[in-house]
Amino acid sequence: MPRIRLLGPSSVPTAFNRATVVLALAVVLFNVYRRFVLDAADPFKCGALPNTGQWLDSPDRKPDHKPFLNWQPPGCLLYEYKAPEIASCNEDGKILFVGDTLTRQLFWATARKIEAPGSKWVFKERNKPDTHSDLWYAVDGAKLKFIWDPWLNSSALHEELKAFRERQEPGFKEKDDPAKKELYNSRRSVVMLVGGGLWHARHYQEDFLRYFKQSVDSVISAAYGEGHVGPLEEAIASGREGVGDQIVFAPVIEPLYERLSPSREATIVPSKINAMNHYLQEKTVSSGVSVLWSYANMTRGRPETYGESGLHVIDTVASKMADVLLNLRCNAKAAQRQGYPYNRTCCSGYVATKWIQVAGLLCAVALFPFVLSQSGRSMSASPVHEQFEMSSMHQITNGHNVARPKDSGLARSTTSTPMSNVPFALFTLILSACCCFLADRTQVFNKFPKQFSNLDFRLILGLVLIACLFNIKAIPAPQERRRPSTPGASAAHSFLPRLQADEFKGWMQVYVLVYAYTGSSNVLDFYEVLRVFLAFYLFLSGYGHTIYFLQNKDYSLRRVATVLVRLNLLAVSLSFMMDRPYTSYHFAPLVSFWFMVVYLTLRARQHTNDSIPHIIGKIVTSALVVTLFIHIRGILELCFSVLHYTCRADLNATEWRFHLGMDKYIVYIGMIVAVLHVRIASILSAPAARLEEVPRIIQEYFNVLRRISVYAALVIVPLFWILTRRSHDKPDYNWWMPYIAWLPVVSFVVLRNATRFFRSYYCASFAWLGRISLELYLLSNHIWLAGDGRGLLRVGFRGDGGLFSDRWRDLVALTPIFVWAAWNVHAATMTVTAWIISSGDGVKGRAAAKSSHSRAGSELAFPNYDNALPGPASQGDIDHGLVNGRQGSGLSKDAKKKLLIIVGVVWLANMLYA
Ligand SMILES: *[C@@H]1O[C@H](CO)[C@@H](O)[C@H](O)[C@H]1NC(C)=O
Ligand SMILES: *[C@@H]1O[C@H](CO)[C@@H](O)[C@H](O)[C@H]1NC(C)=O
Repeated sequence: MPRIRLLGPSSVPTAFNRATVVLALAVVLFNVYRRFVLDAADPFKCGALPNTGQWLDSPDRKPDHKPFLNWQPPGCLLYEYKAPEIASCNEDGKILFVGDTLTRQLFWATARKIEAPGSKWVFKERNKPDTHSDLWYAVDGAKLKFIWDPWLNSSALHEELKAFRERQEPGFKEKDDPAKKELYNSRRSVVMLVGGGLWHARHYQEDFLRYFKQSVDSVISAAYGEGHVGPLEEAIASGREGVGDQIVFAPVIEPLYERLSPSREATIVPSKINAMNHYLQEKTVSSGVSVLWSYANMTRGRPETYGESGLHVIDTVASKMADVLLNLRCNAKAAQRQGYPYNRTCCSGYVATKWIQVAGLLCAVALFPFVLSQSGRSMSASPVHEQFEMSSMHQITNGHNVARPKDSGLARSTTSTPMSNVPFALFTLILSACCCFLADRTQVFNKFPKQFSNLDFRLILGLVLIACLFNIKAIPAPQERRRPSTPGASAAHSFLPRLQADEFKGWMQVYVLVYAYTGSSNVLDFYEVLRVFLAFYLFLSGYGHTIYFLQNKDYSLRRVATVLVRLNLLAVSLSFMMDRPYTSYHFAPLVSFWFMVVYLTLRARQHTNDSIPHIIGKIVTSALVVTLFIHIRGILELCFSVLHYTCRADLNATEWRFHLGMDKYIVYIGMIVAVLHVRIASILSAPAARLEEVPRIIQEYFNVLRRISVYAALVIVPLFWILTRRSHDKPDYNWWMPYIAWLPVVSFVVLRNATRFFRSYYCASFAWLGRISLELYLLSNHIWLAGDGRGLLRVGFRGDGGLFSDRWRDLVALTPIFVWAAWNVHAATMTVTAWIISSGDGVKGRAAAKSSHSRAGSELAFPNYDNALPGPASQGDIDHGLVNGRQGSGLSKDAKKKLLIIVGVVWLANMLYA
């Protein structure tokens, strides 16, 4: 039964593999077809954004917050612009609004986006008596201007149009006179929104259309001459300005006729509005100007979007209207100039493919024939992970000691692991990175914004939990080698076995994924649970690494290299392929950092590790040093500026101070628990007569102690929950987090191990997910979520965007592909890691390769410790340590060379890349 049991009989993985490959191919092909055939006319969604869309939170959907905050243009992510982004979009120029009161409302809405919190500028200005004057507002480089011109024929407007026209002239860029150029730049409008029409309807009976036409025509001819405005897409490809400076028209928005005052109602009638809009439509066709028809879609048939007068829209709607305008103009420009994160995808061509991505693609192509010829079976049955799962299952189910190659079961499974799978593994890794690129750095796949719903969150989580219930398995009994001498010993021995730790990580990962998918970050409760889970992960990581080091006494460079390569291989490949900083995959650097801390703490004066006071002393010292390292101003800054000059790695000290500081003690708690666990297990299995006083007391009263801790945990969990009710916002909770996170974490662990029943069962599917959690986290950013985790990936269905009416189809199609990809990448990472680390060991190295293979196979992100915990004195472990000492004496020359080459290549690529 050496197989992931989740998957049942041995034929299932093959079938699962085949089915998923077919599904993935179908999804990719369909989307390529959609992008290049169905959407060929609108490749960058510059047509979709201004023309259509839907509210994901209209009142009839009973959203959890106030309605009309989430407008969804079809297939792309709308961004909510704020002052710095507007500033970088308008540069020296400004954003110009010209027109009547509705256009002025959009000016107010944009001004509210840039005004500092607490500033009352908009509020005060709006409450002044209506003087129909021009307005000007600038904050931190974001500049807005409004010209009052309901007839669209003022001289101020024509001045602006003249400036616009001059900038468009072919010779403009070469204008030599710098003073003149500056004048032009300061008069520049990056985007001009022109909206009028209501006054024409209000004040003219017969002639309204003639005057309206005159105004519109003169605006267009003043701006473009007799020429035709080119489509937005053309400009995107051509450079750093994105779509270029634009003049766009607002449609005449239909008022809510029944709410109009009687005098207005008499003059502002549907036929007039329709006639004017019809003319705008004609103009779109004949001269190519953009009209933001989605404005009309936002209000059509929705009386709730109108204010009291029936003429104006409510503020939230106005704010979305302003966002449509800003997204249309600024998204492509931001993608060209700023790059990551690509979380605004409407009317954006993404960034031009760079050489490194092309190189990645070429690698995949080059490896492909090699992979095919190597083994046809690789493709169909993916022996890579089968073998890995086999070896890890073996050692888990049989309780075999991992690093002992003489062990027959392990030897059998690992000798069959051909190193020839390395090309296949490399191929898998690169291919997955290419898929991420395809999904999240091109317009091939549609993106979809998240829409939070408490119900969705609970339902998805509930469904997953139910699935877990069908998957409960018995944890294989620990090895009989060290027969426990007291009744408590068996409890101690089976405390937090690896499968259970994996299961915890599975829980955590599932929670994190559902949290990200449903966009729950604004709900404080869910956030608090998330932080506890993240702390839990680090706790398990600290615990696992410590147990490994204490058990195996393997402080070799080889071990460090293995763990670091394994943790970072995928993250580094993705960061190059996705043109995204490595450190933005927070988890990989974070876990690597804490691994190094654990390693250095235990490595220093390692001969004292058997003494509890010494080791606790070391841990406390380490905690103090690391706390100082994180919090003393200047140290992180210094490190990061060194990194900046030597590696072009740009880290944000404030951000990392936050990330490191948030969980600064939990890893140490994990270490202490591990130390105590090892110690107590050894006390319990020793004959009472040979113990000193304190250990004997522990042995005697162990069961009492255990009960006390269970009761304490039972009290602490609800107490913690009540305590956190007192936190009213994230910053406050975050402040408390480092000091209190260990309370629920340790309590959960204690409760999970409270009774024999709890100890001896686990949820197999969660444990399986837990083992691939790192890959799930990394890949989810791109091929399950999208827009660097800010949106959702869409398969291509169209619908109303509700989870149960529409999006479930995406979930059903994408989730298996995503999990399957993570699973394969996990196996591939391990193969590649083993290949790098254990190369060139020769005959002797073969054994080491095998052991490191299985180590790489299963213990890395979470090192593999035995189910049956050895006391430091147990004979088996001394053997084990020796075996390890001999094998793990260090890296072979070859491996060192390979590592150096890899580090060099990564460094060089990074230097050249920026
Ligand atoms: C603009 O048009 C309106 C209405 O036709 C007219 O009353 C006004 O005088 C015009 N203004 C200018 C500056 O031409
Ligand atoms: C998009 O990325 C920016 C820049 O990091 C970030 O500040 C913003 O919150 C992101 N937007 C969304 C909607 O997640």
